[in-house]
Amino acid sequence: MTQNKLKGRELFEAIGRPTTIVAPMVDQSELAWRIISRRYGAELCYTPMFHARLFATEEKYRQNMWSEQDGDRELDRPLIVQFCANDPNYLLEAAKLVEDKCDAVDLNLGCPQGIAKKGKYGAFLMDDWDLVHKLIRTLHDNLKCPVTAKIRVYDDWEKSLAYAKMVLDAGAQFITVHGRTRDMKGQATGLANWKVLKYLRDNLPKDQVFFANGNILYPSDLQRCREETGADAVMSAEGNLYNPGVFWTKTDNIDKQFPRVDKLLREYFEIVKSCAGEASKHAMKAHFFKILHAFLNVHKELRPVIGRTSVHADIKNWEDIVEQVEKLVQDIYTDEKIKEKDVITTGEVQDWGGAYKTVPYWRCQPYFRTVNGEKQNTRKLQVAAARDEVACLENANKREAAPIEENVTKKSRVTA
Ligand SMILES: Cc1cc2nc3c(=O)[nH]c(=O)nc-3n(C[C@H](O)[C@H](O)[C@H](O)COP(=O)(O)O)c2cc1C
Repeated sequence: MTQNKLKGRELFEAIGRPTTIVAPMVDQSELAWRIISRRYGAELCYTPMFHARLFATEEKYRQNMWSEQDGDRELDRPLIVQFCANDPNYLLEAAKLVEDKCDAVDLNLGCPQGIAKKGKYGAFLMDDWDLVHKLIRTLHDNLKCPVTAKIRVYDDWEKSLAYAKMVLDAGAQFITVHGRTRDMKGQATGLANWKVLKYLRDNLPKDQVFFANGNILYPSDLQRCREETGADAVMSAEGNLYNPGVFWTKTDNIDKQFPRVDKLLREYFEIVKSCAGEASKHAMKAHFFKILHAFLNVHKELRPVIGRTSVHADIKNWEDIVEQVEKLVQDIYTDEKIKEKDVITTGEVQDWGGAYKTVPYWRCQPYFRTVNGEKQNTRKLQVAAARDEVACLENANKREAAPIEENVTKKSRVTA
């Protein structure tokens, strides 16, 4: 079964040598979002994590997660379908259902949430290497398409390297490394460590296809990440959710890199209407809030309107919201000083190597979080797997630097 499958670099070439990747995101990297992200520069997309046992055994769950358009050759490729699992048989059964509709199947080894602990999957498999090996090897030996894996790191670099080697030995053809440890979640998220990513990259076989994940705010961070880590490609989750333009590097077109919220929302909404299945519609409300995050801080009156509109409401209600946003932004552009105001400014280079930008509130932009109500500049953030234990003192206006898998599953359909 395995002999005709594309391996590592061959597979990477076959899917067009992607350099920008939409991360797997529960309830958020569904079909409509993948389509819009590709239009703004994403070259490879992952599905949200699906629960293998539920996907294999419950038709209703599968119907909610997957439609006939998912993985369509014209519409939705290249695509990697991600599962969480702790049972090789269910994993294989689930993966078999999509093996002809994707370029690879990925195993989630990074989810750090309580629900993953309870169900023993995601990052909690870091305690059971034999099972991880078995899960990956089962797909490698029996699936038509290749298998890949997404991992977190340990504080111990050598252990992280041994773990990555084990995952690859089991048969994973690509490895994505999220540069945070399992404990780095919620208030303790801290910064991903690109140094440990580089260490892993440098110590894995030269030809290994390696994706880096963590700390991407702007298009300009992508190249910096590839240079600093040596990764083939860079994956973004939260950066992409708040601004799909984060992947646009072909030009410095402001409308591609920091799209106007009215235009982006309209484009995304039209895509949702055209998508089969339930997943794209279900995810719409959360996407509206994220696309409009900075905008809603100014136009607060819209927040409750979106809040009370159900994803099951008549599409006309959502159309009204899109029209309201369009009207508000069009008014902004009647300002005679709009040319002066509609600019992106870049601040000083920070100690983490990048620089913060100021983006007009009517354009998509990254989201900065406060930690325990404190501003980032007053708080030392933990850096993942920091060998020298040097904490990183961050400067003004910083975000919590991190994405939050745990935000996602509160109302997630995944249970284990
Ligand atoms: C909304 C959301 C949902 C996520 N769901 C998943 C998931 O389904 N599978 C997974 O492996 N990681 C998931 N993650 C983690 C991301 O894939 C990524 O590893 C993490 O957010 C770090 O990347 P970032 O700094 O670009 O956000 C999720 C993250 C977010 C923000």
